[in-house]
Amino acid sequence: MSTPPALGLYVHWPYCARICPYCDFNVYRARGADTGALTAAILDDIARWRDRTGARRLTSLHFGGGTPSLMPPGDIAAVIEAADRLFGFEDGAEIGLEANPKEAARLPGIASAGVERVSVGVQAFDDASLDALGRDHGAEEALAAVADAQDLFARVSIDLIYAREGQTPDGWRAELERAVALGLDHLSLYQLTIEPGTAFARKAERGALIPPASEDAAEMFEIAQDLTAAAGLQAYEISNHARGAANRSVHNRLYWTGGDWIGAGPGAHSRLGRHSEGGRLSAEAAATPGGYAAGVAAGGGHETAVLTALEEAQERVLMGLRIAEGLDRADLRGATGLDIDMDAARRFEAQGMLALHDDRAAITPAGRLYADRISMELAPG
Ligand SMILES: C[S@@+](CC[C@H](N)C(=O)[O-])C[C@H]1O[C@@H](n2cnc3c(N)ncnc32)[C@H](O)[C@@H]1O
Ligand code: SF4
Repeated sequence: MSTPPALGLYVHWPYCARICPYCDFNVYRARGADTGALTAAILDDIARWRDRTGARRLTSLHFGGGTPSLMPPGDIAAVIEAADRLFGFEDGAEIGLEANPKEAARLPGIASAGVERVSVGVQAFDDASLDALGRDHGAEEALAAVADAQDLFARVSIDLIYAREGQTPDGWRAELERAVALGLDHLSLYQLTIEPGTAFARKAERGALIPPASEDAAEMFEIAQDLTAAAGLQAYEISNHARGAANRSVHNRLYWTGGDWIGAGPGAHSRLGRHSEGGRLSAEAAATPGGYAAGVAAGGGHETAVLTALEEAQERVLMGLRIAEGLDRADLRGATGLDIDMDAARRFEAQGMLALHDDRAAITPAGRLYADRISMELAPG
């Protein structure tokens, strides 16, 4: 009997103490919210998913947000317990959570609940930058939270945002040197995106926020690649750097490789199955906490659809080209019956931006800056 494919569980905790002006995640102010009702809905939803998936063990459980470090530790423990009871965990399964430095005092409770990996949203190493990002913590506070996390969790990562207003390539290099000196085994380095509809987008429209020139942003991206590589942290994905395969995020890999995951919590997405085996289910939970809880109570809570082969293939190509090992073309064909656009692929290969080998397509270091364009042109349809 063949082993069932890996399965992840994503839990979205949508509350934040303060909404950051650059963020376009599905987030809500935490103040006064009835979080007990949300946790109850999440637990019911996970049980409902179990009816749909049948008996499968989890390879990962990820608490994302929003700010899941605001979730009461008892509720985190209840979710982990339910996941274990209903599905069970594979040996070495990843149980991860995204933490805001402001909630450092909650970290011991989060560790006791069973979380083994945290990513701390440090974002920047100086108070002026954190202030400009609208963060509710200072740099010292963030570093103290990282030190606490290193004592409490088996695996710790930090998130940093670069290409911020006023930031120079030299400034970024100095900041990254400090990050690397923390000796962590994983870093997530995100280039600031001015997302439509955010406070930053409105500021940029009226000329009150001027991001660095694109050449400077490109240089900062290259600095991130070079400095992390020199420190032994390989860029295994566009924004993610890890010391060896053991420190890579297990959960995110499901997104990048067309894996299966189920999502609980407001706005959470899910994907299950493949076109060639009866269809790939796509589900998106109701966005508001109230709408989600009411939907789950009524036996639903998710908008579902079955992806066409073309939709599944496009998603697989866009996500699969993000990882350094590249897109597994045999898997793409097996799942969807479709392949990448080989004319476009050969063109990028001739320009040194794409490597085609072992039935894989991988963006080369020279192509990394053009990853979005390459993916769009390689995607079928
Ligand atoms: C859900 S948040 C992490 C947890 C927690 N809410 C926090 O902010 O500390 C995920 C990460 O996405 C990144 N992020 C969010 N919006 C971004 C944007 N517009 N551009 C670049 N990175 C962004 C931040 O680094 C953030 O830590
Ligand atoms: S960056 Fe994190 S803390 Fe800020 S609004 Fe987004 S999810 Fe919330």
